[in-house]
Amino acid sequence: MKEQLLKLKSEALNRLKECNDNDSIEKARIHYLGKKGELTSILRSMGSLSAEERPKMGKIANEVRAVIEAEIQSMKEVVRKKETAERVKSETLDITMPGRSPEVGRRHPLMIVKEELESVFMRMGYDVISGPEIETVQNNFDDLNAPYDHPSRDWSDTFYISDELVLRTHTSPVEIRVMKEAVKEGKLPIRMVSTGRTFRFDDVDDTHSPMFHQMECLVVDKGVTMANLKDSIDQFVKELFGNSMKTRFRPHNFPFTEPSAEVDVSCPICMGKGCPSCNGTGWSMELLGCGMTHPNVLRNCGIDPEIYSGYAFGMGIDRVAMVKYGIPNIRLLFENDVRFLKQF
Ligand code: DAH
Repeated sequence: MKEQLLKLKSEALNRLKECNDNDSIEKARIHYLGKKGELTSILRSMGSLSAEERPKMGKIANEVRAVIEAEIQSMKEVVRKKETAERVKSETLDITMPGRSPEVGRRHPLMIVKEELESVFMRMGYDVISGPEIETVQNNFDDLNAPYDHPSRDWSDTFYISDELVLRTHTSPVEIRVMKEAVKEGKLPIRMVSTGRTFRFDDVDDTHSPMFHQMECLVVDKGVTMANLKDSIDQFVKELFGNSMKTRFRPHNFPFTEPSAEVDVSCPICMGKGCPSCNGTGWSMELLGCGMTHPNVLRNCGIDPEIYSGYAFGMGIDRVAMVKYGIPNIRLLFENDVRFLKQF
Protein backbone atom coordinates (compact mmCIF):
# COMPACT_ATOMS: atom_id res chain seq x y z
CA MET A 1 0.00 0.00 0.00
CA LYS A 2 2.88 2.33 0.72
CA GLU A 3 4.12 1.88 -2.88
CA GLN A 4 0.61 2.49 -4.10
CA LEU A 5 0.47 5.76 -2.17
CA LEU A 6 3.92 6.96 -3.31
CA LYS A 7 3.10 6.08 -6.93
CA LEU A 8 -0.13 8.06 -6.65
CA LYS A 9 1.80 11.00 -5.21
CA SER A 10 4.35 11.14 -8.03
CA GLU A 11 1.65 10.61 -10.68
CA ALA A 12 -0.45 13.41 -9.20
CA LEU A 13 2.51 15.81 -9.00
CA ASN A 14 3.49 15.10 -12.62
CA ARG A 15 -0.06 15.64 -13.84
CA LEU A 16 -0.40 18.89 -11.89
CA LYS A 17 2.85 20.24 -13.33
CA GLU A 18 1.35 19.85 -16.82
CA CYS A 19 -1.75 21.87 -15.95
CA ASN A 20 -1.97 25.31 -17.48
CA ASP A 21 -5.42 26.49 -16.44
CA ASN A 22 -7.81 26.29 -13.49
CA ASP A 23 -10.02 23.82 -15.30
CA SER A 24 -7.34 21.14 -15.67
CA ILE A 25 -6.17 21.71 -12.06
CA GLU A 26 -9.71 21.14 -10.80
CA LYS A 27 -10.06 17.98 -12.89
CA ALA A 28 -6.81 16.64 -11.45
CA ARG A 29 -7.95 17.47 -7.88
CA ILE A 30 -11.22 15.58 -8.36
CA HIS A 31 -9.35 12.66 -9.93
CA TYR A 32 -6.96 12.23 -7.00
CA LEU A 33 -8.58 13.80 -3.93
CA GLY A 34 -12.30 13.81 -4.74
CA LYS A 35 -14.90 11.67 -2.96
CA LYS A 36 -14.59 9.02 -5.66
CA GLY A 37 -10.93 9.83 -6.24
CA GLU A 38 -7.91 7.54 -6.19
CA LEU A 39 -6.64 8.46 -2.72
CA THR A 40 -10.07 7.90 -1.21
CA SER A 41 -10.33 4.46 -2.76
CA ILE A 42 -6.89 3.46 -1.39
CA LEU A 43 -7.96 4.70 2.05
CA ARG A 44 -11.12 2.61 1.86
CA SER A 45 -9.05 -0.55 1.54
CA MET A 46 -7.21 0.28 4.82
CA GLY A 47 -9.74 -1.84 6.69
CA SER A 48 -7.85 -4.94 5.59
CA LEU A 49 -4.58 -3.76 7.24
CA SER A 50 -3.30 -4.94 10.60
CA ALA A 51 -3.83 -2.66 13.58
CA GLU A 52 -0.19 -1.55 13.68
CA GLU A 53 0.08 -0.99 9.95
CA ARG A 54 -3.03 1.13 9.84
CA PRO A 55 -1.76 4.32 11.62
CA LYS A 56 1.51 4.23 9.63
CA MET A 57 -0.35 4.04 6.36
CA GLY A 58 -2.78 6.67 7.61
CA LYS A 59 0.14 8.99 8.29
CA ILE A 60 1.65 8.43 4.84
CA ALA A 61 -1.74 8.95 3.22
CA ASN A 62 -2.19 12.27 5.03
CA GLU A 63 1.28 13.38 3.97
CA VAL A 64 0.49 12.46 0.34
CA ARG A 65 -2.76 14.43 0.53
CA ALA A 66 -0.95 17.43 2.01
CA VAL A 67 1.76 17.37 -0.67
CA ILE A 68 -0.82 17.13 -3.47
CA GLU A 69 -2.93 19.94 -1.94
CA ALA A 70 0.16 22.14 -1.63
CA GLU A 71 1.00 21.50 -5.29
CA ILE A 72 -2.55 22.36 -6.28
CA GLN A 73 -2.27 25.67 -4.44
CA SER A 74 1.07 26.51 -5.99
CA MET A 75 -0.14 25.57 -9.51
CA LYS A 76 -3.21 27.77 -9.01
CA GLU A 77 -0.87 30.61 -8.17
CA VAL A 78 1.21 29.93 -11.31
CA VAL A 79 -1.95 29.97 -13.47
CA ARG A 80 -3.22 33.14 -11.80
CA LYS A 81 0.06 34.95 -12.48
CA LYS A 82 0.14 33.75 -16.07
CA GLU A 83 -3.45 34.91 -16.68
CA THR A 84 -2.79 38.30 -15.10
CA ALA A 85 0.29 38.75 -17.27
CA GLU A 86 -1.70 37.88 -20.39
CA ARG A 87 -4.52 40.23 -19.46
CA VAL A 88 -2.16 43.10 -18.76
CA LYS A 89 -0.50 42.49 -22.10
CA SER A 90 -3.78 42.39 -24.02
CA GLU A 91 -5.13 45.47 -22.29
CA THR A 92 -2.07 47.63 -22.77
CA LEU A 93 -2.88 51.11 -23.93
CA ASP A 94 -0.75 52.44 -26.76
CA ILE A 95 -0.88 56.14 -26.10
CA THR A 96 1.03 56.85 -29.31
CA MET A 97 -1.90 55.56 -31.45
CA PRO A 98 -3.79 58.29 -33.33
CA GLY A 99 -7.08 59.15 -31.62
CA ARG A 100 -10.55 58.48 -33.03
CA SER A 101 -12.12 61.90 -33.47
CA PRO A 102 -15.89 62.21 -32.94
CA GLU A 103 -18.10 62.86 -36.00
CA VAL A 104 -18.98 66.55 -36.14
CA GLY A 105 -22.16 67.76 -37.87
CA ARG A 106 -21.92 70.29 -40.71
CA ARG A 107 -24.23 72.87 -42.22
CA HIS A 108 -26.13 71.50 -45.21
CA PRO A 109 -24.93 73.20 -48.44
CA LEU A 110 -28.48 74.46 -49.07
CA MET A 111 -28.59 76.08 -45.63
CA ILE A 112 -25.16 77.63 -46.20
CA VAL A 113 -26.37 79.18 -49.47
CA LYS A 114 -29.74 80.24 -48.03
CA GLU A 115 -28.10 82.00 -45.10
CA GLU A 116 -25.50 83.61 -47.33
CA LEU A 117 -28.23 84.92 -49.65
CA GLU A 118 -30.24 86.27 -46.74
CA SER A 119 -27.23 87.99 -45.25
CA VAL A 120 -26.29 89.59 -48.60
CA PHE A 121 -29.79 91.10 -48.79
CA MET A 122 -29.93 92.01 -45.12
CA ARG A 123 -26.73 94.03 -45.61
CA MET A 124 -28.49 95.86 -48.47
CA GLY A 125 -31.35 96.75 -46.13
CA TYR A 126 -33.95 94.14 -47.08
CA ASP A 127 -36.31 92.44 -44.58
CA VAL A 128 -36.14 88.63 -44.43
CA ILE A 129 -39.68 87.24 -44.35
CA SER A 130 -40.97 83.67 -44.28
CA GLY A 131 -44.24 82.36 -45.66
CA PRO A 132 -46.21 79.12 -45.28
CA GLU A 133 -45.55 76.07 -47.46
CA ILE A 134 -49.30 75.42 -47.68
CA GLU A 135 -50.74 78.35 -49.60
CA THR A 136 -54.12 79.48 -50.85
CA VAL A 137 -54.83 79.19 -54.57
CA GLN A 138 -55.66 82.87 -54.30
CA ASN A 139 -52.13 83.84 -53.20
CA ASN A 140 -50.28 81.22 -55.22
CA PHE A 141 -52.11 81.92 -58.53
CA ASP A 142 -55.10 84.30 -58.58
CA ASP A 143 -53.62 87.43 -57.05
CA LEU A 144 -50.39 86.83 -58.96
CA ASN A 145 -52.41 87.43 -62.13
CA ALA A 146 -52.13 83.83 -63.37
CA PRO A 147 -54.87 83.30 -65.97
CA TYR A 148 -57.41 80.59 -65.12
CA ASP A 149 -56.11 78.40 -67.92
CA HIS A 150 -52.42 78.85 -67.03
CA PRO A 151 -50.65 75.46 -67.39
CA SER A 152 -48.97 75.77 -63.97
CA ARG A 153 -52.43 75.52 -62.34
CA ASP A 154 -52.96 72.06 -63.74
CA TRP A 155 -53.43 69.10 -61.36
CA SER A 156 -50.55 67.43 -63.16
CA ASP A 157 -48.17 70.27 -62.22
CA THR A 158 -49.35 71.33 -58.79
CA PHE A 159 -49.97 69.45 -55.54
CA TYR A 160 -53.53 70.43 -54.59
CA ILE A 161 -54.64 69.86 -51.01
CA SER A 162 -58.19 71.03 -51.77
CA ASP A 163 -59.83 73.33 -54.32
CA GLU A 164 -58.55 76.31 -52.34
CA LEU A 165 -55.20 75.05 -50.98
CA VAL A 166 -51.94 73.96 -52.62
CA LEU A 167 -48.36 73.19 -51.66
CA ARG A 168 -46.93 76.47 -52.93
CA THR A 169 -45.37 76.08 -56.37
CA HIS A 170 -43.09 79.09 -55.91
CA THR A 171 -42.20 81.66 -53.25
CA SER A 172 -44.00 84.46 -55.17
CA PRO A 173 -47.17 84.21 -52.99
CA VAL A 174 -45.06 85.63 -50.14
CA GLU A 175 -45.00 88.85 -52.21
CA ILE A 176 -48.81 88.94 -52.09
CA ARG A 177 -48.84 88.39 -48.32
CA VAL A 178 -46.25 91.11 -47.74
CA MET A 179 -47.99 93.67 -50.00
CA LYS A 180 -51.43 93.09 -48.43
CA GLU A 181 -49.93 93.32 -44.96
CA ALA A 182 -48.00 96.49 -45.87
CA VAL A 183 -51.19 98.15 -47.15
CA LYS A 184 -53.09 97.12 -44.02
CA GLU A 185 -50.38 98.36 -41.66
CA GLY A 186 -49.40 101.40 -43.74
CA LYS A 187 -45.87 100.02 -44.15
CA LEU A 188 -44.95 100.94 -47.72
CA PRO A 189 -42.28 101.00 -49.24
CA ILE A 190 -41.30 97.30 -49.28
CA ARG A 191 -37.87 95.72 -49.60
CA MET A 192 -38.01 92.07 -48.76
CA VAL A 193 -36.59 88.64 -49.52
CA SER A 194 -38.05 85.28 -48.59
CA THR A 195 -36.50 81.82 -48.88
CA GLY A 196 -38.13 78.44 -48.46
CA ARG A 197 -39.41 75.16 -49.82
CA THR A 198 -41.53 74.91 -52.95
CA PHE A 199 -43.27 71.96 -54.58
CA ARG A 200 -44.14 70.84 -58.09
CA PHE A 201 -45.38 67.61 -59.58
CA ASP A 202 -42.02 66.80 -61.19
CA ASP A 203 -40.34 63.46 -61.72
CA VAL A 204 -36.91 63.22 -60.12
CA ASP A 205 -33.95 63.52 -62.48
CA ASP A 206 -30.49 65.07 -62.24
CA THR A 207 -31.85 68.62 -62.06
CA HIS A 208 -35.50 68.20 -60.91
CA SER A 209 -37.07 67.24 -57.63
CA PRO A 210 -40.73 67.53 -56.51
CA MET A 211 -39.46 69.55 -53.55
CA PHE A 212 -36.96 72.33 -54.15
CA HIS A 213 -36.04 75.73 -52.72
CA GLN A 214 -36.52 79.28 -53.92
CA MET A 215 -35.68 82.78 -52.91
CA GLU A 216 -38.07 85.62 -53.68
CA CYS A 217 -37.25 89.29 -53.73
CA LEU A 218 -39.69 92.21 -53.90
CA VAL A 219 -39.18 95.95 -53.87
CA VAL A 220 -42.18 98.32 -54.04
CA ASP A 221 -41.68 102.06 -53.87
CA LYS A 222 -42.36 105.27 -55.72
CA GLY A 223 -40.29 105.58 -58.91
CA VAL A 224 -38.80 102.05 -58.94
CA THR A 225 -37.59 101.19 -62.46
CA MET A 226 -36.14 98.34 -64.48
CA ALA A 227 -32.72 100.00 -64.09
CA ASN A 228 -32.97 99.47 -60.32
CA LEU A 229 -33.87 95.84 -60.91
CA LYS A 230 -30.90 95.26 -63.22
CA ASP A 231 -28.55 96.98 -60.84
CA SER A 232 -29.60 95.05 -57.75
CA ILE A 233 -29.41 91.72 -59.55
CA ASP A 234 -25.96 92.59 -60.93
CA GLN A 235 -24.75 93.59 -57.48
CA PHE A 236 -26.03 90.58 -55.70
CA VAL A 237 -24.73 88.09 -58.30
CA LYS A 238 -21.27 89.63 -57.85
CA GLU A 239 -21.57 89.43 -54.05
CA LEU A 240 -22.58 85.80 -54.30
CA PHE A 241 -20.26 84.46 -57.00
CA GLY A 242 -17.44 87.02 -57.17
CA ASN A 243 -16.75 90.19 -59.16
CA SER A 244 -15.90 88.52 -62.46
CA MET A 245 -19.41 87.05 -62.71
CA LYS A 246 -21.45 88.65 -65.54
CA THR A 247 -25.24 88.66 -65.99
CA ARG A 248 -27.36 88.54 -69.15
CA PHE A 249 -31.07 89.47 -69.32
CA ARG A 250 -33.31 87.67 -71.84
CA PRO A 251 -36.93 88.73 -72.41
CA HIS A 252 -39.41 86.26 -70.95
CA ASN A 253 -43.01 86.07 -69.83
CA PHE A 254 -44.44 85.71 -66.33
CA PRO A 255 -48.06 86.52 -65.42
CA PHE A 256 -47.01 88.58 -62.39
CA THR A 257 -44.43 90.86 -64.07
CA GLU A 258 -44.41 93.14 -67.09
CA PRO A 259 -41.90 93.38 -68.63
CA SER A 260 -40.30 90.09 -67.54
CA ALA A 261 -36.84 88.63 -68.06
CA GLU A 262 -34.78 85.60 -67.33
CA VAL A 263 -31.23 86.07 -66.11
CA ASP A 264 -28.23 83.95 -67.06
CA VAL A 265 -24.82 84.20 -65.37
CA SER A 266 -21.32 83.44 -66.66
CA CYS A 267 -20.55 79.74 -66.67
CA PRO A 268 -18.85 79.20 -63.28
CA ILE A 269 -16.54 76.54 -64.72
CA CYS A 270 -14.93 78.51 -67.60
CA MET A 271 -15.95 82.00 -66.40
CA GLY A 272 -17.43 82.88 -69.79
CA LYS A 273 -14.73 81.50 -72.10
CA GLY A 274 -16.85 78.57 -73.29
CA CYS A 275 -16.44 74.96 -72.17
CA PRO A 276 -18.26 71.61 -72.58
CA SER A 277 -20.38 72.17 -69.47
CA CYS A 278 -21.92 75.36 -70.95
CA ASN A 279 -22.00 73.93 -74.48
CA GLY A 280 -19.37 76.47 -75.46
CA THR A 281 -21.73 79.42 -74.83
CA GLY A 282 -19.93 80.81 -71.76
CA TRP A 283 -23.33 81.18 -70.01
CA SER A 284 -25.01 79.19 -67.28
CA MET A 285 -28.72 79.33 -68.03
CA GLU A 286 -31.75 80.58 -66.12
CA LEU A 287 -30.45 81.53 -62.73
CA LEU A 288 -33.58 83.52 -62.00
CA GLY A 289 -36.79 85.02 -63.31
CA CYS A 290 -37.55 88.69 -62.77
CA GLY A 291 -39.54 91.68 -63.89
CA MET A 292 -41.50 94.78 -62.99
CA THR A 293 -44.46 93.89 -60.80
CA HIS A 294 -47.61 93.76 -62.96
CA PRO A 295 -50.07 96.60 -62.25
CA ASN A 296 -52.82 93.98 -61.77
CA VAL A 297 -50.80 92.36 -58.99
CA LEU A 298 -50.28 95.69 -57.24
CA ARG A 299 -54.01 96.42 -57.60
CA ASN A 300 -54.96 92.96 -56.27
CA CYS A 301 -53.08 93.86 -53.11
CA GLY A 302 -54.61 97.33 -52.80
CA ILE A 303 -51.59 99.29 -54.08
CA ASP A 304 -52.19 102.06 -56.65
CA PRO A 305 -49.93 101.34 -59.69
CA GLU A 306 -50.20 105.03 -60.66
CA ILE A 307 -48.30 105.94 -57.50
CA TYR A 308 -46.15 102.90 -56.78
CA SER A 309 -44.11 100.53 -58.92
CA GLY A 310 -42.17 97.43 -58.00
CA TYR A 311 -39.67 94.88 -59.18
CA ALA A 312 -39.34 91.27 -58.18
CA PHE A 313 -37.29 88.22 -58.85
CA GLY A 314 -37.38 84.56 -57.94
CA MET A 315 -34.52 82.13 -57.97
CA GLY A 316 -33.91 78.42 -57.39
CA ILE A 317 -31.59 78.05 -54.39
CA ASP A 318 -30.81 74.43 -55.26
CA ARG A 319 -29.50 75.64 -58.63
CA VAL A 320 -27.35 78.28 -56.92
CA ALA A 321 -25.88 75.68 -54.53
CA MET A 322 -25.20 73.35 -57.47
CA VAL A 323 -23.50 76.11 -59.48
CA LYS A 324 -21.57 77.41 -56.49
CA TYR A 325 -20.24 74.03 -55.34
CA GLY A 326 -20.13 72.21 -58.69
CA ILE A 327 -22.73 69.64 -57.54
CA PRO A 328 -23.75 67.61 -60.63
CA ASN A 329 -26.98 66.04 -59.34
CA ILE A 330 -29.84 67.54 -57.31
CA ARG A 331 -30.53 64.18 -55.61
CA LEU A 332 -27.29 64.63 -53.66
CA LEU A 333 -28.88 67.58 -51.85
CA PHE A 334 -31.71 65.44 -50.44
CA GLU A 335 -30.12 62.04 -49.82
CA ASN A 336 -28.32 63.25 -46.67
CA ASP A 337 -25.34 60.99 -47.26
CA VAL A 338 -22.77 62.12 -44.66
CA ARG A 339 -19.90 61.37 -47.05
CA PHE A 340 -21.34 64.08 -49.33
CA LEU A 341 -22.36 66.51 -46.58
CA LYS A 342 -18.95 66.27 -44.87
CA GLN A 343 -17.37 68.10 -47.81
CA PHE A 344 -18.89 71.48 -46.98
N1 DAH B 1 -42.10 82.48 -59.53
C1 DAH B 1 -41.30 82.23 -60.72
C2 DAH B 1 -41.05 80.73 -60.83
O1 DAH B 1 -41.17 80.04 -59.90
C3 DAH B 1 -40.01 82.94 -60.65
C4 DAH B 1 -40.18 84.42 -60.70
C5 DAH B 1 -40.18 85.08 -61.92
C6 DAH B 1 -40.35 85.16 -59.57
C7 DAH B 1 -40.32 86.44 -62.01
C8 DAH B 1 -40.51 86.53 -59.63
C9 DAH B 1 -40.49 87.16 -60.86
O2 DAH B 1 -40.65 87.29 -58.57
O3 DAH B 1 -40.60 88.51 -60.92
O4 DAH B 1 -40.70 80.29 -61.90
